[in-house]
Amino acid sequence: DIYGAERLNSRGPNIDIDSEWTPFSQKVNHWLTHQWQGAPIINGEAIETGKRVEVRAPYDQRHLTGEVQFADAELAQRAIEAASAGFDSWHTTPVGIRTQSLMRLGDLLEENLDELVALCHQEAGKTIQDGIDEVREAVDFCRYYALRANELFTTTHTRLLADGEQHTLMRDGRGVFVCISPWNFPLAIFLGQVTAALAAGNTVVAKPAEQTSLIATRAIELMLEAGVPASAIQLLPGRGGEVGGPLTSDPRIAGVAFTGSTETARVISRALAARDCAPVPLIAETGGQNAMIIDSTSLPEQVIKDAVQSAFASAGQRCSALRVLCVQSDIADRIIDLLQGAMAELKTGNPCLHSTDVGPVIDTDAQQGLLQYIEQMQSHAQLLAQTPLHADAEQGTFVPPTAFEIDSIERLGREQFGPIMHLVRYEARDLDALVDQINRCGYGLTLGIHSRNEGTAAHIEARARVGNTYINRNQVGATVGVQPFGGQGLSGTGPKAGGPHYLLRFTRLQPAKPRQ
Ligand code: SER
Repeated sequence: DIYGAERLNSRGPNIDIDSEWTPFSQKVNHWLTHQWQGAPIINGEAIETGKRVEVRAPYDQRHLTGEVQFADAELAQRAIEAASAGFDSWHTTPVGIRTQSLMRLGDLLEENLDELVALCHQEAGKTIQDGIDEVREAVDFCRYYALRANELFTTTHTRLLADGEQHTLMRDGRGVFVCISPWNFPLAIFLGQVTAALAAGNTVVAKPAEQTSLIATRAIELMLEAGVPASAIQLLPGRGGEVGGPLTSDPRIAGVAFTGSTETARVISRALAARDCAPVPLIAETGGQNAMIIDSTSLPEQVIKDAVQSAFASAGQRCSALRVLCVQSDIADRIIDLLQGAMAELKTGNPCLHSTDVGPVIDTDAQQGLLQYIEQMQSHAQLLAQTPLHADAEQGTFVPPTAFEIDSIERLGREQFGPIMHLVRYEARDLDALVDQINRCGYGLTLGIHSRNEGTAAHIEARARVGNTYINRNQVGATVGVQPFGGQGLSGTGPKAGGPHYLLRFTRLQPAKPRQ
């Protein structure tokens, strides 16, 4: 098993294999040499398209993870036809039956945890902890949306007029929802969108990110096994341009749920607007240029732990990730000192090892873009710290965790979706101006605040225009049902995923028969 003991030994004499591999990771390890197959699934049947694409592990391009067959525009038509045909029977299925299969899916995800974590390593380069968190969040989405749908679809709103006339409103599905999901949460966001749309009584055409088609295929196989009817869910792995375009410009679709870049959200919005038919909702969760504000009353050790986790965990590939640490000048030198120490201790490497803190980024394009940005920044910003890469990093798509000091937030351009953090100093008297500058970036996703002065924290929170604020903790990893997640402005349309209002946008209000 070349990805087991031999690779561990090759990391040097300090690794103690017995303590490194817990029983759970040994179970995961069995899957690391498995080769997965991905394909479009139409009416429950895997389709041979002949457009075969090899999938390689982001942390070691020599390792073949599997093969996926990509769909094309013609198959997109078939998927919409199949989902349209399935709508009548699915939205009239009692909500309790619909959601039973989603609850069962949650159970199946848990039962297959080791395989799914392995697949997260091998296709998305996720660390063990990130893989477990990914599956956990997917399970939470299945159960949370199922429970919310049970509540929503069994509640009617009745108004009684003075003369006895009665009006009753009920929720119903809208039709065929297109779900377009990102590679950074290939299971959790993928299933979050799909289960929400299904729970709300829609049928779905799901277009996963092309980089993570194998995870999506496995998720849909489990969904069918859980009892979701084959006509309710159609899977279309493929390239955005080839498959996404035909889906979003089709007049038969009733809505789009999208998570990804702000640019792509605009493209989808234009495609929907250009259709010569009824307008439909677009639910878009996009990027962020997220700040953490640290005042001089904060606890430096806690700040560093939370800042490093927020910026570099998941290799910075979270839309919630910290991009700019704003430090009150009085404590900036101390914070920089601690940050340099912490970043020197971070370990990049094989994400299947417990000792790895930062895995690879998703692919060569992402890697090249981030490395180029680091290169450009060297000329006009001060490099504060850079974590050295591990010995065989050149086999994968690694980017060293890097921190720059910049003189103003206005220097930040596009979101850099990787392990790159900026630091900016501010004077206490300029706190409001700082928050205004953050607001002017136009994004509004997450904001971290570190202060032991409750008044300051409350003041910043009230002034900032963001979706999620986190006080004296890290700013990533929103918990489903507890921290509804989603931003405003360039960060998305809402409603917040994992929150009580999310399902509403997937539904329409339908008058039940008026009674005299
Ligand atoms: N829901 C994720 C998080 O909170 C989004 O990237 O980190």
